[in-house]
Amino acid sequence: MTILLLGSGGREHALAYKMLKSPTCNQLFVAPGNAGTSFIATNVSISPIDFDSIKDFVLKENIDMVVVGPEDPLVHGIYDFFKNDKAINHIPVIGPSKVGAQLEGSKEFAKEFLIKHKIPTAAYDSFTSESVERGCNFLETLQPPYVLKADGLAAGKGVLILNDLAEAKTELRNMLVHAKFGTASSKVVIEEFLDGIELSCFVLTDGKNYKMLPTAKDYKRIGEGDTGLNTGGMGAVSPVPFADEVLLEKIETRIVKPTVDGLQKDGIEYKGFIFIGLIIVKGEPMVIEYNVRMGDPETEVVMPRIQSDLVELFQAVANQKLDEVTLEIDPRSATTIMVVSGGYPEDYNKGFEITGMEYVDDSIVFHAGTKLENGKVVTNGGRVLAVTSFGNNFQEAIKKSYQNIDKLHFDKMYFRKDIGFDLA
Ligand code: AMP
Ligand code: GLY
Repeated sequence: MTILLLGSGGREHALAYKMLKSPTCNQLFVAPGNAGTSFIATNVSISPIDFDSIKDFVLKENIDMVVVGPEDPLVHGIYDFFKNDKAINHIPVIGPSKVGAQLEGSKEFAKEFLIKHKIPTAAYDSFTSESVERGCNFLETLQPPYVLKADGLAAGKGVLILNDLAEAKTELRNMLVHAKFGTASSKVVIEEFLDGIELSCFVLTDGKNYKMLPTAKDYKRIGEGDTGLNTGGMGAVSPVPFADEVLLEKIETRIVKPTVDGLQKDGIEYKGFIFIGLIIVKGEPMVIEYNVRMGDPETEVVMPRIQSDLVELFQAVANQKLDEVTLEIDPRSATTIMVVSGGYPEDYNKGFEITGMEYVDDSIVFHAGTKLENGKVVTNGGRVLAVTSFGNNFQEAIKKSYQNIDKLHFDKMYFRKDIGFDLA
């Protein structure tokens, strides 16, 4: 098979790495990819949301399958674009339909879906600029902290958690009236605060059947001890040590199964990943968000643990035969540590040469924001590399990642030294 993978981050490098282990994958293109994907596959300089160019490319190269990494093309409707075009509707797209992608594209859509299908989630209401006063009144009925969520995609920045009522009202007005997050905040979901520990659950579904992939926990804050600004994720651990059989059973029966059944009942086509963000409140899992893609850096720990042939799994997804394949998981722990550019998630520079990668031993270096310049690998983003290792437990795996990170260098390199600090 010839496969086209869309995206350019650490997630895509990890997906590419895993797909290339399949004997079925003869050729892999990544659009646009990064330096890491260029070493193992063929990068193509096409934007993942330039559907017309993607169509020309898949026809020219006889692509057999398109795998979508990030949410943007999904929310823009790449699945439907292929489905509705006779020239390319025979090519499966791994990802949900445009309606399905609304689970991530609209917080309100996701909340309505959760309530409709009786899936445990925080109480909420949603507001627009016309109902901003009602929103302020609603805030008064809640206990702090207050959770405000921009309805649309806001590059992971659209959730505000505020302790002060007056500040929450001001921010609600900023979002609704002053377009703090552009059109993404023309609607805002206000949600009850859930106090508990976070966990992410990953599902691969063909719209009828599903497979639960390994759990993972990521570390979103830039600073040690989970302090400072939110980032895309500074590290991840899989499996999550506290996700025992009892909790996983609850997650499956109360959340995963009703989600897939709900998609089917609502006639929503969905052939791809579902990333379910959970908060465990006193042992009970509650959904805080859906994403319609894999997480980054969670993919960098989840994919290496999947022993089954990923391309075969994708084919089963495309043919709605996921019930006919098995999913084998490596029982060892995997951890990844993100190495970022100093200044991230605020301003940072790009173009620093990365050295030392050839000395890395017994870890996998997934590239995130990197590119090749005159034969050298240079930084090209805030999150630069994800260093993944295996161990018999997560402590052993983390130690290995840190030992290898010590061999890497670029100007203003930063990473958190406490990934996994809160786990037993
Ligand atoms: P989201 O973009 O929906 O993942 O939200 C970003 C972060 O906000 C999550 O990872 C949680 O840490 C936090 N969060 C979201 N919703 C809630 C909630 N209802 N209660 C507590 N924390 C939340
Ligand atoms: N690491 C969180 C995300 O991918 O959304």
